[in-house]
Amino acid sequence: MNPLTDLPSTRAAGCPFDPPPELAAIREEAPIRRFRFPDGHLGWLVTGHELARAVAADHTRFSSRYELMHYPLADLGPMPPAPVGDLTGIDAPEHTRYRKLLAGKFTVRRMNQLAERVEEITAEHLDAMERLGPPADLVSAFAQPVPALVICELLGVPYADRETFQRHAVALSGIGATVEEQSAAFGALQDYLRRLVEAKRATPGDDVLGDLAGSDLSDEELAGIGAFLLGAGLDTTANMIALGAFALFTWPEQVEALLADPARGVEELLRYLTIAHTGARSAVEDVELGGVRLAAGESVALSMQAANRDPARFADPDRLDLRREATGHLAFGHGVHQCLGQQLARIELRIALPALFRRLPDLRLAVPAAEVPMRDGMDVYGVHRLPVRWG
Ligand code: HEM
Repeated sequence: MNPLTDLPSTRAAGCPFDPPPELAAIREEAPIRRFRFPDGHLGWLVTGHELARAVAADHTRFSSRYELMHYPLADLGPMPPAPVGDLTGIDAPEHTRYRKLLAGKFTVRRMNQLAERVEEITAEHLDAMERLGPPADLVSAFAQPVPALVICELLGVPYADRETFQRHAVALSGIGATVEEQSAAFGALQDYLRRLVEAKRATPGDDVLGDLAGSDLSDEELAGIGAFLLGAGLDTTANMIALGAFALFTWPEQVEALLADPARGVEELLRYLTIAHTGARSAVEDVELGGVRLAAGESVALSMQAANRDPARFADPDRLDLRREATGHLAFGHGVHQCLGQQLARIELRIALPALFRRLPDLRLAVPAAEVPMRDGMDVYGVHRLPVRWG
């Protein structure tokens, strides 16, 4: 079998919620197969659920270190090591140290407290949408500010700073911003987080950064973790809210199921949409996997979106069915790097999406579906804007 030279990345016209159609054929033919990465590296592509899960679970033979990895979506040249505070691009023992420290701060008590704030923040934004009236861009009016303010709560960003913080965070996520604006926003956020860390050292509050200020982490590590949490938790949740709403406009008969059982419905949306669509690892030793032999140093692209549509794991996988039991999906990854904020993300989605459809039951697209600008080619899939109307 010749190596694949292109990771299928174009979604079929009129199917913005489905993975590129060639992925299904590739998975059927060989759930792990040779793949030439965009930078020319000869590695592997995994599209089957069982194999993707196995690679993600095996953190001793597969590394997450960026500098060992070839990027599967574009030729970015040699990858630099993860910046300080970035958990996804490092291995044990550094990863274990950060992960333990952080996991102790994402407690059930803190998540429950945050749930109350998520309710309030959601209601405030729905009030504002109603006040301003239709039409609106659901991304800038709702999907983005709600998780941005939740991250402010999590990190303990004071109220007075939230508008500036949110502005920088939005510029950083790239929507409507030039590269220069993005790097200026990144610098401004770094500066801001360093000042915030100093303030937390002086007066720790009841929030993640305040708690961590009492640990042995350096100021640089604390600021890095703050920036990483913002990066990991904002774009992802914002796009799940917006793309989830778009999917529900497309299948309005599913809204009832979401309102009846938000936990179950959100799990299916996570599986079906798999916005963090492609992961990567590198073999650090020779590995036998799915009948092939991977050599040490070879990179593996993990198509989580193909894995989450694998008929060997989910019956009738291409049907969105909010009543199904969708647990076991890989939308939050798997193994030691599995999303640390997944409980918070679930809380946000279970509150924000039902609240949106309860408050505005006739919410709908304000433009034809084909005109919604999709985030094609980006690490996190979703929509740039979502024009909506109601009433
Ligand atoms: C729907 C929303 C979200 C999705 C789809 C998502 C997805 C993911 C995925 C796929 C990974 C694994 C990356 C890998 O294996 O290399 C991950 C890791 C991570 N996520 Fe999320 N995430 C979401 C929300 C959040 C939120 C709200 C936070 C926190 C504020 C967060 C914090 C993290 C952190 C800290 C990691 C790194 C974990 C580690 O490497 O140990 N995420 N996320």
